[in-house]
Amino acid sequence: MNVLGICGSPHADGNSAYALRHALAVVESHGIETTYIPLFDKSIRPCDGCFCCRKGECIYNDDMLPIYEALRLCDGLLLASPVYLGMVTGQMKVMMDRTLLIRVGENFGMSGKVGAGIACGGFRNGGQELTLLNMQTFFLQQNMHVIADGPRFSHSGATIVGRAGEDTVGLQTVENLAHHLAETVVKLRRPSAERPG
Ligand SMILES: Cc1cc2nc3c(=O)[nH]c(=O)nc-3n(C[C@H](O)[C@H](O)[C@H](O)COP(=O)(O)O)c2cc1C
Repeated sequence: MNVLGICGSPHADGNSAYALRHALAVVESHGIETTYIPLFDKSIRPCDGCFCCRKGECIYNDDMLPIYEALRLCDGLLLASPVYLGMVTGQMKVMMDRTLLIRVGENFGMSGKVGAGIACGGFRNGGQELTLLNMQTFFLQQNMHVIADGPRFSHSGATIVGRAGEDTVGLQTVENLAHHLAETVVKLRRPSAERPG
């Protein structure tokens, strides 16, 4: 089992990277392998809308290639993004658009995988929930299962305000989300006869 974390911040060691690494460490505590992919050092062209992907190939051979592979292999996908004007960053959106290649005709390569999001903003009410909604809409478009931070609180996912390392309440939402993601991935991978309920 593998959970892939993609960080949409332009900063290598910013708040989103901190929160995502924290979440992936929690996922690993469940015995699940993780992969971390930051976008800050990737060169990914925006989608040109040529629909060549309908023939199975993108016209661009860029840093999306290893990301396609990681997306296909993972069981769970954890996206983390700073809030930019109430939305995900451009880096994150470009990556999302380029995954049209995985979603062609009847073939949805991310079907049934579990998706969860972390949004980091500079301000309270800065648009963290809308940013999570961007990610959740993406998961739905890819026919994935969308989860939030789970019981007892289960709100919209994980949110950070200000410096991630100092936001103890925010880090609690990150940990709750990561536990819920790990548990859901394990539950969905188990044969149905073994599943409780
Ligand atoms: C272009 C830009 C737009 C931003 N817009 C918002 C915003 O709408 N709401 C908010 O709370 N913070 C906003 N911020 C602040 C960042 O979301 C915040 O500093 C975040 O923690 C940065 O994450 P990082 O360290 O992972 O890059 C913005 C920052 C930039 C550079």
